[in-house]
Amino acid sequence: MKGRIVYIEELKKHVGEEVEIRGWVYNKRSSGKVRFVIIRDGTGFLQCVMVKSNLADEVFELYDELSLETSVIVKGKAREDRRAPGGVELELQDLKIMGKSVNFPIPKVREDNIPDVGVLLPIRHLWLRTRKQWALMRIRHTVEKAIHDFFDKNGFIRIDAPILTPSACEGTTTLFETDYFGEKAYLTQSGQLYMEAACMAHGRVYCFGPTFRAEKSKTRRHLMEFWMVEPEIAYAELPDIMENAERFVSYIVERVLEERKEELKTLERDISKLEHVSPPFPKISYTEAVEILKKKGFKFEWGEDFGGDEETAISEEFDKPVIVHRYPAKIKAFYMKRDPQNPELALCMDMLAPEGYGEIIGGGQREDSLEELEKRFDEYDLPKEAYEWYLDLRRYGTVPHAGYGLGIERTIAWISGIKHVREAIPFPRLLEKIYP
Ligand code: 4AD
Ligand code: MG
Repeated sequence: MKGRIVYIEELKKHVGEEVEIRGWVYNKRSSGKVRFVIIRDGTGFLQCVMVKSNLADEVFELYDELSLETSVIVKGKAREDRRAPGGVELELQDLKIMGKSVNFPIPKVREDNIPDVGVLLPIRHLWLRTRKQWALMRIRHTVEKAIHDFFDKNGFIRIDAPILTPSACEGTTTLFETDYFGEKAYLTQSGQLYMEAACMAHGRVYCFGPTFRAEKSKTRRHLMEFWMVEPEIAYAELPDIMENAERFVSYIVERVLEERKEELKTLERDISKLEHVSPPFPKISYTEAVEILKKKGFKFEWGEDFGGDEETAISEEFDKPVIVHRYPAKIKAFYMKRDPQNPELALCMDMLAPEGYGEIIGGGQREDSLEELEKRFDEYDLPKEAYEWYLDLRRYGTVPHAGYGLGIERTIAWISGIKHVREAIPFPRLLEKIYP
């Protein structure tokens, strides 16, 4: 075969030329003397037209062998066709089968034969090839790119946090423990403490990487391994990071709307719900949020933490993400700075996504006083020796500082309008499920 090798996404620039496409069979249908094969190559989907009179008999007959996901190289002439998906189709001239695919376990999905997720999860390595999953990973790519672009444009330096750590950041009940040459070590729950060190060196920093929580949770919002982006800013206080967070989330949404319109369409996302996501976001205190819950008939006591249902009920009141600030310090992590107006409260904030997607951001201002922080270790029953380095940050030129963490799978699930976070990550780690 000879023809210029091109990707489907750039085919529009090659109308009238003979080209070669390398991909897999996505679908096919036959109507009399004309046969259609839909090929996907990772960059898009392409309709190839097989006309009997234009093809050698043995090539035309290969149609029968083109079962779902057979890998193929096709050659043909690209031509404009308004009705074809992508606006271009290929008039097939030659076809070569690379690898057979017998009984691909995921049938062509129609409304009435969507396989159960219990069937799909163990074949995630194949499930990734299907159209919706393909769209989701492309949205994930854009979200990740937007994250880096936002912080880069705003003067932040990326600092990578370690994955193996000697101590907890977010409470001791959700640690994955491992052996580190005879010492106990843990998979990181958050890079925050290390970002606090780094922001004293660079001013504005962020980390972006996998984080781990051994949570015995089976909700649509929980993963054991998820990716988190964590900015940390020296000399920043609570209002500064609330403002930064709303600009950040608006920027991510805007980029996905700009660059992933087709993918959002594939996912049947109602984008009118995303188009008005721009600063400022509504901001309410925890106490005001509790009032909302009471008005809505929830049996909820001031001082409790919100669960999924409460978060959904609060976010229903707003058509943008809502920031809830100043939670009771007792239900938050040890490092939170207390509100000088009311020491029962922490100078913290959570951002709740609309449409029931729950908390996508958690963050706040950090305790910057050595004396106060030392008291916290006793209150929270944490081994102070393991955190001496962290206390050093308060011994050598302490300053107010603040930051937050955004969970990217929850963010992707919300923007894409999918129900469960497990489809927002290529290979989800779920409760007692680590295959493939
Ligand atoms: O609220 P979290 O636990 O905050 C922290 O870890 C802070 N140290 C971050 C910081 O201030 N630098 O987690 C932050 C976000 C949550 O809002 C949520 O989006 C996501 O991480 N997250 C999870 N996502 C999926 N599965 C889980 N089990 C998650 N736990 C938290
Ligand atoms: Mg949180």
